[in-house]
Amino acid sequence: MSSSLNVETAVRERYSDAAQSRVEALCCPVEYDRQYLKVIPPEVIERDYGCGDPSKHLRPGETVLDLGSGAGKICFIAAQVVGSTGRVIGVDMNDDMLALARKHQRAVGDAIGYHNVEFRKGRIQDLALDLEKLDADLRAHPVQSVDSFLAAEARADDLRVTHPLVATESIDVVVSNCVLNLVDARAKRQLFDEIFRVLRNGRRAVISDIVSDEPVPEALQTDPELWSGCISGALTEQNFLRAFLDAGFYGVHILKLDSTPWRTIQGIEFRSMTVEAFKGRQGACFERNQAVIYKGPFKEVLDDDNHRIERGQRYAVCDKTYQLLKKAPYCEHFEFIEPLTEIPLEKAKPFDCARATLRHPKETKGESYNITTAPGQCCDSGTSC
Ligand SMILES: C[S@@+](CC[C@H](N)C(=O)[O-])C[C@H]1O[C@@H](n2cnc3c(N)ncnc32)[C@H](O)[C@@H]1O
Repeated sequence: MSSSLNVETAVRERYSDAAQSRVEALCCPVEYDRQYLKVIPPEVIERDYGCGDPSKHLRPGETVLDLGSGAGKICFIAAQVVGSTGRVIGVDMNDDMLALARKHQRAVGDAIGYHNVEFRKGRIQDLALDLEKLDADLRAHPVQSVDSFLAAEARADDLRVTHPLVATESIDVVVSNCVLNLVDARAKRQLFDEIFRVLRNGRRAVISDIVSDEPVPEALQTDPELWSGCISGALTEQNFLRAFLDAGFYGVHILKLDSTPWRTIQGIEFRSMTVEAFKGRQGACFERNQAVIYKGPFKEVLDDDNHRIERGQRYAVCDKTYQLLKKAPYCEHFEFIEPLTEIPLEKAKPFDCARATLRHPKETKGESYNITTAPGQCCDSGTSC
């Protein structure tokens, strides 16, 4: 709970100072890939207030959104990883941080040979609202009364629709480095919903943040220093993962959890965690006679749609689940069995995903399948995902 404290003001003030000069208490040591640091000015590297490195999970050509981009370090690294065909957008609400990142944007672009980074002003829990556009609007129409306040709110709503800071389904990967914990508890749900909104279907979030091993007691949640210091707003390990699931993500998994705590306060350990989560499990279920076999090593697995799949058995799954399991992070754990005769999607019947059913091999081969073959090749090239 953070009702007696204005979290956003505390965070804004702390990071304005932290943009002017390095604040040691906000630094959690991270090893970045050195090859990407060569083109980044010392002034940016010194103001590293991250706790992990989501940029190492990016791929060439991707459009990346960095939430709470600060001095721009993750954006400048990401710019090199995604290459000239990719794009990077950093969002921050702090003018001093934005000024610092923008100051070095051209030089970094010149050094890497292309300009694919931009920085935008916004609150990460409200990624539709362009704060620079709102600022210009409010200068033209100053708020002087309740009526003008309500009119300004209506124009802000209009801006969200007509000129969104980050458009719906426009991003391949949302990354963030040590920022989500800084958002007020009351806006956390909206924050995860916004991450989900801006991602394209089938794409992902890779988020590094500080998490706690026990709930943060109320007394620690009202201290502005601890709030802006990435402590008060930290979610517990399990609540951090749960927040992605509640927003509709699937395949949520931990890429890295530091064994050593960054800080311990009153016996509660705070450490860095990097999580990957995917968008795209929504949609209808159709029967195309596909089956999957879970390879192990566990006796059984339970996915986010509550399909319980035992090791070594052939399970009937709908086309949507089949396509999800064929991709990361699941594919290496399964074998995939296509029906002998393909059922085109437009002719497929609805599939009841609530039931878990084993699929007899005859169903995928067809009841009349009765051939006998001579000994043949027993090796194939395998599958990749
Ligand atoms: C701990 S620093 C991390 C900066 C950067 N990601 C890094 O790795 O150095 C937090 C940054 O997030 C920004 N920030 C915090 N809360 C925010 C919010 N609600 N909306 C936008 N930016 C926010 C701060 O202004 C600051 O630049």
